[in-house]
Amino acid sequence: MCGIVGYAGRRPSAAAAGELKSHAHGALDVVMEGLRRLEYRGYDSAGVAVLTEAGIDSRKKSGKLANLTAELAAAPLPEATTGIGHTRWATHGGPTDENAHPHLADGGRLALIHNGIIENFAELKAELLAAGAEFISETDTEVAAALLASVYRGEGGGDLALSMQLACRRLEGAFTLLAIHADSPDVVVAARRNSPLVVGLGDGENFLGSDVSGFIDFTRRAVELGQDQIVTITPESVEITDFYGNPASGTEFEVNWDAAAAEKGGYPSFMEKEINDQPQAVGDTLLGRSDLEGRLTLDELRVDPEDLKAVNKIMVLACGTSAYAGQVAKYAIEHWCRIPVEVELSHEFRYRDPIVDGNTLIVAISQSGETMDTLMAVRYAKEQGAKVLAICNTNGSTIPRESDAVLYTHAGPEIAVASTKAFLAQITAAYLLGLYLAQLRGDKFQGEIKDMLTDLAKVPAKIQQVLDNSGQIKELAGLMADAKSVLFLGRHVGFPVAMEGALKLKELAYIHAEGFAAGELKHGPIALIEEGQPVFVVVPSPRGRDSLHAKVVSNIQEIRARGAKTIVIAEEGDDAVKAYAEHVFYVPETPTLLAPLLTTVPLQIFACALATAKGYDVDQPRNLAKSVTVE
Ligand code: G6P
Repeated sequence: MCGIVGYAGRRPSAAAAGELKSHAHGALDVVMEGLRRLEYRGYDSAGVAVLTEAGIDSRKKSGKLANLTAELAAAPLPEATTGIGHTRWATHGGPTDENAHPHLADGGRLALIHNGIIENFAELKAELLAAGAEFISETDTEVAAALLASVYRGEGGGDLALSMQLACRRLEGAFTLLAIHADSPDVVVAARRNSPLVVGLGDGENFLGSDVSGFIDFTRRAVELGQDQIVTITPESVEITDFYGNPASGTEFEVNWDAAAAEKGGYPSFMEKEINDQPQAVGDTLLGRSDLEGRLTLDELRVDPEDLKAVNKIMVLACGTSAYAGQVAKYAIEHWCRIPVEVELSHEFRYRDPIVDGNTLIVAISQSGETMDTLMAVRYAKEQGAKVLAICNTNGSTIPRESDAVLYTHAGPEIAVASTKAFLAQITAAYLLGLYLAQLRGDKFQGEIKDMLTDLAKVPAKIQQVLDNSGQIKELAGLMADAKSVLFLGRHVGFPVAMEGALKLKELAYIHAEGFAAGELKHGPIALIEEGQPVFVVVPSPRGRDSLHAKVVSNIQEIRARGAKTIVIAEEGDDAVKAYAEHVFYVPETPTLLAPLLTTVPLQIFACALATAKGYDVDQPRNLAKSVTVE
């Protein structure tokens, strides 16, 4: 939520370099490139500020980054070597030009950008107003800027880093702040508490970003920061302290994504690219995690096997799509390991006195590793003595850093706001975790685990088959662009798939959509069925438990008899469903528990194609943000 970039370096501007503007040159280019890559975090306004000998100059504009680009073309900024930039997802104050960041203070000599929520902003604002400060926006950020300016002119003694420390001690809530001051050329000072910030290390230049995509074009060397830290970057130095000026350090790591992976690769949208990346996302997540005998070797897990053997309950905590991955994990882990698994939305977990203890394993699933609700739930569970294992896609992010163990998904950068490939990679990682626990605890014979791994290894090619045969579903989506409501039904592992199918349609196409457990139909949802109501049904394999398949087929008959238009996702060779379906989309055979890796894909393609047919931006749906770093 909100993308933040900072730069201090000596890149010559394009004009100074006397070249065509083919790549980033001065500070502004670097910052704009970072914002372009971070725009998925928020896109209701954007702004930049640069520092020159003449002082600070800034531009900001409501709407997407393109509006800021146009503004910069109309009113160019001077050449600079230091700059900050922000792309916003509004919390305090609507998405207007005034509320966009940066916010200026100290008579325009200080510029500040912010991600997060300052919880005590009202109290601080009253205090600053009484002292004569003036505000032009409705944001909590402008209050932080005014506070920083007042400290700078007072006890901070004109030292920006010290002033930031002093100001942060007065702030409550979650924040990443970046500030520049006209008196400190070449310096960007940043602070973080409960909001993300990563440092990029360059040669004669240094970077700050909400995540590594903010500087991935320029360096792969990054530093994870800890909680409540201040970092000061100049072209030559990176200095980290706590909020009291005590020296602190971060953890350096190498970014293993490349810039090309974060580009569209010839697809019209990131969403389409990421849907098509899924065979690789699943394949890469499986890579190197078992030996030739089929024994799982999750080296990076770094948690005492004895602790894992002692686990008597697993609780999966996550939000959004990641929570649906957790629901799939429940079916698999309970079946393989016979350990009870609860799945809970992170924000509900924390406020209901959950029962967790030292034998509870918390599995926190998060693509970004920054979702505030999940982070807070992780902290709460740790306080109760639980062990926390994160399933995460983002190196250097907060949730894995604060967890006892991490299993990284290797889906690569996911840029489109609505999650696709990260979902399949999370499910894959959860299967690996379940099989690993089964191996460790002796719940399954080694041969059974090996067979399951062999089946998993075949999944990427099967996903590719689904992708290769997606013409028909795209065509159907085009015909259904006027649908007002679409329902999704599933049973067993098909139930979370149905909910994910509905979520994708809501997120991308803004169509009312609900996912139901097929068995629940008669207890309410069937009342929604009227002539022509489209209903997707995720049908379990007829080769699995007979009763499951037969029950879902009867559900299809029940809704059809009431006028529903049924669209069925079934396993190849399941001819029985044909008679009851308006449309059938087949996916290759696979064991029942692994089926979500295939049955989800047509639903993603459907939502994406329908939204595209309606002319919507599938990468940046309205009101959403990819990384929700506020509660
Ligand atoms: C946001 C995104 C969703 C995502 C959810 C959880 O709502 O729009 O796509 O599933 O956050 O995010 P996480 O990064 O924790 O998986």
